Amino acid sequence: KQIPLPSDIYGRRKNSAGFEFGHRESLDRLMGDLSKPLPEVKAGPLVAGVTSRAEEKRVTSPADRSKTVGTVKEATPADVDAAFTAADKAFKAWSRQPVDTRAACLERMAGLLEENRNRLLALLAAEAGKTLDDGIAEIREAVDFCRYYADKGRELFGAPVQMPGPTGEDNRHLWRGRGVFGCISPWNFPLAIFLGQISAALVAGNTVIAKPAPQTPLIAYEAVKLFHQAGVPAEALALLPGGPDVGSAITAHPRLAGVAFTGSTKTAWAINRTLAAKDGPIVPLIAETGGINAMIVDATALSEQVADDVVVSAFRSAGQRCSALRILFLQEDVADGMLKMIEGAAAELNLGDPSKQNTDVGPIIDENQRQMLADHVAEMRVKQKVCYAGNVPETGNFFAPHIIELDSPAALTREVFGPVLHVVRWKAKELDKVLAAVDATGYGLTLGVHSRIESTIRKVTEALDTGNVYINRNMIGAVVGTQPFGGSKLSGTGFKAGGPAYLMRFAEEQVISVNT
Ligand code: SER
Repeated sequence: KQIPLPSDIYGRRKNSAGFEFGHRESLDRLMGDLSKPLPEVKAGPLVAGVTSRAEEKRVTSPADRSKTVGTVKEATPADVDAAFTAADKAFKAWSRQPVDTRAACLERMAGLLEENRNRLLALLAAEAGKTLDDGIAEIREAVDFCRYYADKGRELFGAPVQMPGPTGEDNRHLWRGRGVFGCISPWNFPLAIFLGQISAALVAGNTVIAKPAPQTPLIAYEAVKLFHQAGVPAEALALLPGGPDVGSAITAHPRLAGVAFTGSTKTAWAINRTLAAKDGPIVPLIAETGGINAMIVDATALSEQVADDVVVSAFRSAGQRCSALRILFLQEDVADGMLKMIEGAAAELNLGDPSKQNTDVGPIIDENQRQMLADHVAEMRVKQKVCYAGNVPETGNFFAPHIIELDSPAALTREVFGPVLHVVRWKAKELDKVLAAVDATGYGLTLGVHSRIESTIRKVTEALDTGNVYINRNMIGAVVGTQPFGGSKLSGTGFKAGGPAYLMRFAEEQVISVNT
């Protein structure tokens, strides 16, 4: 079987071996499209047969608070009920049809994302503050999720599998959708994670109620409209924009059959408690949460490569990735030189308008998050040394990349979701202490290692059970089907998104034994 490659949304061709490779469409055309004013999106609940009566709220751009990107009507309790009634009713028809029909919807969705890429890219920049590189990578990931889950869905949910058994008995194993799935997604991947969850739930035979993050309802609204255009019936997929109250109404609903959640560990605990407190069917939770992600660098590492990989891992996407590097362990012998290089590289980054081609670091998603970062840095400034703070545009929620040297890794007690890199020095022969400190965070999402000593690499990977380990490279941007993504312990429940086992959690098994 052909190895999946990430699709190139700006052109796909096949070479003689059948592999796809890409070339970007002319940058001029893309930039031309992006410079046109983006029509305001009027978003609201998408529930079959319901017209929302809620008030419109203005959605502004994180890069420029004076700019309105669109409006949103948030879902009311009546919308939540109506969505469940419709999705419950639609479940049997959606789940009992051949998987091919559902998979074909995802494939059409992938095509629609490619067709609408420039508009989606503009909206990702305006509503979520995504730089062009990040926006392109996100649309590509969304396309990959659709195609990968369509493919895996056909493999898993196709014909029932004949099981071995005694003569005179026919045993068949098959998978079925669970019912109405709640998909609750974050603002940092408002397209890829949002529709990754939805595609997985749909292809497994569930109907879906999706709640995007309150910061990014517009891109979610556009995505759900495209799903409907791709052939997913309106009853089988509802959109309920809103905040934690809408989320709680979904997770507490008696007709809920499963939850896919990506966001904070704290919210995952709250969802788990809500599900556990309900009588009735036991509802599974698939949670992908955060991490205090570490990179361990020893004295044999290549400094230029470390500098590049650290800056990408800590500051790309303004550090607003759950995979981002939060705490860098530098071996003392090389720490001064490497820090100088990292600080120099960080100082070169351009902060600013995410829709401009030369921007490296866009804004923080909202004022609350920006304030949280400012408070963290202010607190650390009292106790620790702040190495770098650049110039910051004042139009939006911008926050300069910071590098903070800590005396001890224990000084960092929580995930700081933004462009703040913490650095700790470690002494030769004290790798065990570093491993214990990484383990003590309790998280297990991503880990970076830079070393040219094989036994060190082996020791680190054997000691830690982090979900995604990256050796001698950066530690963000997992590719669907190539680097299935997700963590352990405080970082999530598994199974990994974009991996071979993910769809199983969305389905349940049935075995039919016939006495022939
Ligand atoms: N899948 C994303 C990444 O690997 C999650 O933040 O960067």
